[in-house]
Amino acid sequence: MTAPYDPSDREKVVSKLPLALRQELKVRAAQLSVDIQDAVTEGIHAWRSNPGAVEAVDTSGGSSFATYLPTGLYDDLKKDCKSRSVSYNQGLAQSIRLWLDTHTMPMLVRPEHVRRFIVCNQKGGVGKSAVSNGLAQALAEAGARVCVIDFDPQSHLTKHLGHLPLGIKEPSLAKFMLGEAEGNVRDLLIPVEYDTFKGRLFLLPACKDAFLLDAKLATTRHVRVKETALEKAIEDLEKDFDYIVIDCPPSLGYTMDTALYYARTRDGENPKASGLLVIVQAEDTSADAYDMLQEQIEDMEGDLDVAVTQLGFVVNLYDARKGFIATSSLEEWERFGDPSVLVIIPDLKEQREAVRLKRPLLDYAPDCEQAIAMRDLKKALTK
Ligand SMILES: Nc1ncnc2c1ncn2[C@@H]1O[C@H](COP(=O)(O)OP(=O)(O)O)[C@@H](O)[C@H]1O
Ligand SMILES: [Mg+2]
Repeated sequence: MTAPYDPSDREKVVSKLPLALRQELKVRAAQLSVDIQDAVTEGIHAWRSNPGAVEAVDTSGGSSFATYLPTGLYDDLKKDCKSRSVSYNQGLAQSIRLWLDTHTMPMLVRPEHVRRFIVCNQKGGVGKSAVSNGLAQALAEAGARVCVIDFDPQSHLTKHLGHLPLGIKEPSLAKFMLGEAEGNVRDLLIPVEYDTFKGRLFLLPACKDAFLLDAKLATTRHVRVKETALEKAIEDLEKDFDYIVIDCPPSLGYTMDTALYYARTRDGENPKASGLLVIVQAEDTSADAYDMLQEQIEDMEGDLDVAVTQLGFVVNLYDARKGFIATSSLEEWERFGDPSVLVIIPDLKEQREAVRLKRPLLDYAPDCEQAIAMRDLKKALTK
């Protein structure tokens, strides 16, 4: 961030640092919601008062790095560099290394029982898949074991993560739900292999056969009751994960009922532990769509005597430049109070770029505003 500090408090400092170190600093500062200049300031203080705390840093191939430091601090650093016979760049690099080594990513406390986040809205294109994906990544980045389920036969989430949907003849989630698959649902899981998630993030990919799920659930005579089909099918996964995130299809049929049922508060469960995350946009049609979802939730609660928590709204693709329609609709979402608006995500290019490149957003642009919003959402849901 380049916060315009009062020049009497801060001064601009330009130095040379290797790209990898700059990148690590940017990402960690974003993960911890700390300003870069504050991180560097802390690092310099720590380095000055702890001679020998870090080894020499390889500063070869450095390029320009600018930050704002409290006035006079850089001069103090330079004096120490002279007395320790290291270059100014080396002194700054060691200060940053020290801050990084002492400010690791805070790991989430893992929940005792699996927590279920059902990401929904029957309107397409509002960002369900983008948010399911980003939230799952933010949880896994923070140390949780996460399964993200692509429950939409359109398979956008699966494709975003660089995979193909399952073949129509292969075992699939829908077939497990309908009792038509042999074997274990765990065999469907695909690891999302990026360092940031270190073997903790798994995708359960989509299959086109889920287009038939509504019709088949409507007529099933199976021992499994319609609403419990999803829960029964993925029961086995629960012990392997801390969080299950479900990216729902844009529909309000039986498929959605199974997801709503899966979101219900279980006996003895904290009502805030699991539930629905409703993705909306700041525009009038989103409000109409929400009314219909709300009706379906109330019907299910009444018919089956269950409670389904709405954990909150995510207002996505927000663009205040759209004027009155955007700002007044946002106010309307905020007026609900319960559920509350958990985050507002602007319309940003990085999300579309990550999709185009089929890379997880938090790997592709870990310090972009949208990645930060995904971590804020994780925080709001896990605090
Ligand atoms: N905040 C955002 N900024 C920019 N593009 C976004 C954002 N959220 C979603 N998108 C893009 O908008 C399109 C629709 O989003 P998607 O998550 O697929 O919606 P849904 O799952 O509700 O149909 C996708 O191309 C996605 O990458
Ligand atoms: Mg989608």
